[in-house]
Amino acid sequence: MSYQAEYSKSINTPEAFWGEKAQDLAWYKQPEKILSKDENGIDRWFADGELNTAYLALDYHVENGRADNTAIIYDSPVSGQKRKISFLELRDEVAKFAGVLKAQGVEKGDRVVIYMPMMPEALVAMLAVARLGAIHSVVFGGFAPHELAVRIDDAEPKVIVSASCGIEISKVIEYKPMLDEAIEKSAYKPSACVILQRPEAKATMIEGRDIDWKEAVANAEPADCVPVKGTDPLYILYTSGTTGKPKGVVRDNGGHAVAMKYSMKSIYNVEAGDVFWAASDVGWVVGHSYIVYGPLLAGCTTIVYEGKPVRTPDAGAFWRVCEEYKVKVLFSAPTAFRAIKKEDPEGKLIANYDLSNLHTVFMAGERLDPPTYHWTMEVTGKPVIDHWWQTETGWAICGNMTGIETLPPKAGSATVPISGFNVQILDPDGNELPAGEQGAIALKLPLPPSCLPTVWGDYERFRTGYLTDYPGYYCSGDGGYKDEDGYVFIMGRTDDVINVAGHRLSTGEMEEIVADHPAVAECAVIGINDPLKGQQPIGFVLLKNGVDIDGQQLESELVALVRKEIGAVACFKRAVIVDRLPKTRSGKILRKLMRQIADGQDYTVPSTIDDPVSLSVIEDVMSENGLITS
Ligand code: COA
Ligand code: AMP
Repeated sequence: MSYQAEYSKSINTPEAFWGEKAQDLAWYKQPEKILSKDENGIDRWFADGELNTAYLALDYHVENGRADNTAIIYDSPVSGQKRKISFLELRDEVAKFAGVLKAQGVEKGDRVVIYMPMMPEALVAMLAVARLGAIHSVVFGGFAPHELAVRIDDAEPKVIVSASCGIEISKVIEYKPMLDEAIEKSAYKPSACVILQRPEAKATMIEGRDIDWKEAVANAEPADCVPVKGTDPLYILYTSGTTGKPKGVVRDNGGHAVAMKYSMKSIYNVEAGDVFWAASDVGWVVGHSYIVYGPLLAGCTTIVYEGKPVRTPDAGAFWRVCEEYKVKVLFSAPTAFRAIKKEDPEGKLIANYDLSNLHTVFMAGERLDPPTYHWTMEVTGKPVIDHWWQTETGWAICGNMTGIETLPPKAGSATVPISGFNVQILDPDGNELPAGEQGAIALKLPLPPSCLPTVWGDYERFRTGYLTDYPGYYCSGDGGYKDEDGYVFIMGRTDDVINVAGHRLSTGEMEEIVADHPAVAECAVIGINDPLKGQQPIGFVLLKNGVDIDGQQLESELVALVRKEIGAVACFKRAVIVDRLPKTRSGKILRKLMRQIADGQDYTVPSTIDDPVSLSVIEDVMSENGLITS
């Protein structure tokens, strides 16, 4: 089948296309309604189908001759551990842990927050929640207590699952005090916390609330899989929007399982028994889709790597793992390869490893810049494929479907739309733009399976955030263009979301925190180019009248404030004082213009500008502080 034939079928006859793909799963009840509308008028997939995602990821393989195949390889250079877990062992561990949660009253539809480092137990917890038909919400370990508290209040989890610590290279990060602080801060209180004690740090337990993971499992009765409807939620994953409040992206069971299973063969070209490694974290969407659900639904072996691309112990870490476990597909963010390139520019360490099993390297999470693309291809000698996606979709919107037909790549492009995604470039009035013209990237409805049907508890936010700018389309928040061959080039966000080391962050949220400092009258936080992390946030701060504070002193206080509120992962390291900010006459800060100045781009001064001199002031400040890149 050619890519064009497959893609056209998915767009012209979506119900027939996805109805056929759904048959690839062992539903308890096959769906008859393939595409229907929900109470909000949103397109939903497989509404009357019944399934259990954890059953499909584990029990199904145990029952179909793969009980002894390896499901998870745990490789942790930071703790010196390695472990292999078969599908049978994992199924049993998950059933037992589901029993632990059930004993705490967790039932279908209840929420469970998971705040864990990269260990197999994080996957066990996610799959156990899914087994009970409950809804997990994983919070990335790099987030601070405040961020965790916001998510607890929004998701209202009956139980929270966590560990005593995570390990960042050689630094032990104690999770339990952060969890305790978050629960203290949140208005909503979970009834229990299940804590995995790690030898690197012992957590102090709170009587009556905290339960020791190992003791609880030792006494647990295994729990069975609970059937759920195709449209019942599997998880909520919070992601950064343009305000301080993160958006709870809801993922349903049916559409997600169908899209995951389909993507493993069609995009990544892997099958049961193959080793698939997404070097990411379960706290991000890449981790949900391609460390946990995608590979396990397809019967592949997934790798849980608790380490970094560099310094654990060196820039050969990725290649060592690829050789040791015969990895067929490696997937990570461009920033990881830039980190490797920085330490091993000629890729000398690669020569120490046998990469003959590695077929393809996939990248996502941020734009794959052509130098990183060329470098990775040259040093590995493998095809490198960029693909573009978002937490909201759960899988790639554009990419190269290597299991259908590999198209010739073009550096700087995420190739072509994936089956089901009708990708259009729109002008501000919502007209579809011709090839070569840059505009907003929007997806014509209906969206394919797995895409979010709402924001948790806030349908209105979903509607206004994604569906109203261009009626009939989902607005991605990214800008870009298509070329004459239909290849899509993603040029970056059109809103206040930035990508730092492949981590999605909100500059709006950082502004709210910076503006809270008693010396600050007003501020703008923008993302500027960074050679390693892609972007880094910089704060431009206007002081209150009469305030006299040393710039360095203020910078270190603001850096500490953002780190405390959002977490180390925000990478907010620079804040400079300015005496005016460029604004429109109605008082809107011209952040896009500031970004263009910082990126050394040409810009047009808008007629609505209030104080044109402010632009040269900002340019001077940026230049004095070495913030202008090109
Ligand atoms: N728990 C606690 N802290 C964490 C954390 C976690 N799970 N993850 C990151 N942090 C901390 C780091 O220790 C660092 O703290 P520091 O400021 O005290 O040094 C801070 O958050 C920033 O982390 P990061 O931006 O990841 O920088 P880094 O220098 O530690 O690593 C890379 C840089 C490029 C090696 C790393 O980001 C990476 O491997 N990224 C690519 C893979 C990826 O995660 N992609 C995500 C989506 S695909
Ligand atoms: P997240 O929801 O964390 O996956 O972040 C999604 C955002 O990351 C997208 O809206 C893009 O801005 C960016 N992104 C992800 N993958 C790519 C890619 N391959 N090319 C360009 N930008 C990307």
